[in-house]
Amino acid sequence: MKRGINIAILGRGTVAQGVIKLLKRNRRLIEKKVGATLSLARVLARGTRKQKDIQLPARLLTDVPDEILSNPDIDIIVELIGGYEPARSYILKAMEAGKDIVTANKALLAVHGEEIFARAQKHGIDIGFEASVGGGIPIIRTLKEGLAGDRNRALYAILNGTCNYILTTMEESGEDFHKALASAQQLGYAEADPSFDINGIDAAHKLAILVLLAFGTRVRLKDIYTEGIRHISRMDITYARELGYKIKLLAIARHDNGKIEARVHPALVPLHHPLASVRGPYNAVFIDGEALGSTMYLGQGAGMMPTATAVLADIIEIARNRLHGKSLRIPPLGYPIDSLGRLPVRSIDDLKSDYYLRFMVLDRPGVLAQIAGILGSSGISIASVIQKEDRDGNTVPVVMHTNAAREKDLKQALARINRLKVVKAKSVYIRVVDFATP
Ligand code: HSE
Repeated sequence: MKRGINIAILGRGTVAQGVIKLLKRNRRLIEKKVGATLSLARVLARGTRKQKDIQLPARLLTDVPDEILSNPDIDIIVELIGGYEPARSYILKAMEAGKDIVTANKALLAVHGEEIFARAQKHGIDIGFEASVGGGIPIIRTLKEGLAGDRNRALYAILNGTCNYILTTMEESGEDFHKALASAQQLGYAEADPSFDINGIDAAHKLAILVLLAFGTRVRLKDIYTEGIRHISRMDITYARELGYKIKLLAIARHDNGKIEARVHPALVPLHHPLASVRGPYNAVFIDGEALGSTMYLGQGAGMMPTATAVLADIIEIARNRLHGKSLRIPPLGYPIDSLGRLPVRSIDDLKSDYYLRFMVLDRPGVLAQIAGILGSSGISIASVIQKEDRDGNTVPVVMHTNAAREKDLKQALARINRLKVVKAKSVYIRVVDFATP
């Protein structure tokens, strides 16, 4: 065997523990594939629980970052701390010392990716980030290599395991939002701050990364329209089902007429579409390619061991590059940094979509006509209506499915409808996705 590769891990959380376990469990297999020994040299583990969480010899553990970042014996640094700082500074420092990087940090790459990827290119550093999107689904490699020859037209994805778990549990077990969130947290799917999950921010971070790879263009996080699932009620899940749809938190990116659409929001997905059958903490990425047509990639999007497999795949690729020379390596984003574009991002107000609408109204003659009148005067046509009988003596839900309408027109109409005396709660609107080719 040739010389060995030394790895250091920054962090002691769930994914770090998974990587340590998997490295141990599959050591011989991995070494056979790489053709060299792969050793875990150090783990940066701060805090008092470090000994208990990670079953490792004490000599491997340190709480001094510099014992790792500039240690000449270490080849690959695996950043699993999460968050912006100190993760960013540690990565930049390690790159300067010539270390290759593996990271699962989607928030960091979505916000500081430009700086990090440029620095990696400058120093000739490998940077692997398969674990940052889709947990165990090898979607980064798929976009970078498998789909390299095609022109992607659209991408629709379920990128947050916590939200998909919550929506599935609400639908199938009838649990309320808070109970479903608590069990997602217990199962280790949620971020340290679960508002990143349920407000759609985690999915937006991941979408920003996928857009780079799928369309070769940068999008700023603030340009990604982002809406979470807090306002989704079981009532809406039930009505959506009646209309032939499931509600999913989707991350959508489309390349259309020289512009990019990039948005994260709950959406009605037709029951027959493969994304509708993605349950629990699973993630899925559905890609529409010009030559290939549609493909979908499905797998566990969160959790210790699925995410660890993605980290290990990066470690293996980088170890091979180190051992056999880096000259043939694929650029981390599939494109040289300088060739990435910055296409304009379409405003959500310009979106044309069908909508699911729910109004809570007094059960009186003429109410439906008032609502339909306002929608009609804004050029919004109604495809179907559901109105159940009076439930509590006063208010009833009226559910509508509209034909394609412009979002700006819809919002204006809803603002007028919400001012009607007969409307007793803020009206709900959820976009219906038709998966049409851009
Ligand atoms: N909190 C994330 C999720 C974990 O729920 O999908 C993986 O990024």
